[in-house]
Amino acid sequence: MNILVTAGPTREPIDPVRFISNRSSGKMGYEIAAAFAHAGHAVLLVSGHTALDVPDGVDFLPVDTAASMHEAVAHHIGRMQIAVFTAAVADYTPLAVAPEKLKKSADTLTLELVKTPDILGTARSSFGFDGTLVGFAAETENLEANARAKLTRKGCDLVIANDVSKPGIGFDSNHNEVMLVYPERTEFLPLASKHDLAHQLVQAILELHLSTRM
Ligand code: CTP
Repeated sequence: MNILVTAGPTREPIDPVRFISNRSSGKMGYEIAAAFAHAGHAVLLVSGHTALDVPDGVDFLPVDTAASMHEAVAHHIGRMQIAVFTAAVADYTPLAVAPEKLKKSADTLTLELVKTPDILGTARSSFGFDGTLVGFAAETENLEANARAKLTRKGCDLVIANDVSKPGIGFDSNHNEVMLVYPERTEFLPLASKHDLAHQLVQAILELHLSTRM
């Protein structure tokens, strides 16, 4: 099958030398891409900047901003059967990019930000994607309720949720524990390395894909 995975953080430029980004390492997404490839699938990994090596056997499309990730997904999602959105996409981007490096002057500086396109949230409506759609939810409170709201709002078949306020899991860690939020049930996958967890997640996503297509 053809599988799309988005991963890593986006970078939203402020001026030629500065950007707004977030703490995503991209590890979970890269492990998921590697696990799908290991299972014999054709994987396109659309990724923001990370310090990671591209997994063996995975097609790689590097992107920078939320807008460029949106464009890459729009271009490729049509031929995918499964799309897994692990990327930590910036929700807002500077309204204007300063053409020259901003100079220090006043004591305070206000940046005006505008919403970025919700790539996952428009996958069904804008791109007409009718395959298996999997989103991620990084939450600091009300994990299940927030993830379930995202599942409905973004038209997903599954949302994989993790609590990023818990020390030792998520973001820069090599470990994670996640909640699998399906329309009619919730499952919990206990603490494991992102490598092992990725194999469990890929298994769950493939089973979900097959069950919704029978
Ligand atoms: N996502 C996306 N494009 C965006 C923002 C998010 O594709 N512009 C995807 C992420 O890859 C992830 C999911 O949406 O799979 C959850 O993102 P999140 O930022 O938690 O969702 P929001 O709708 O922005 O909700 P919140 O109010 O919690 O920020």
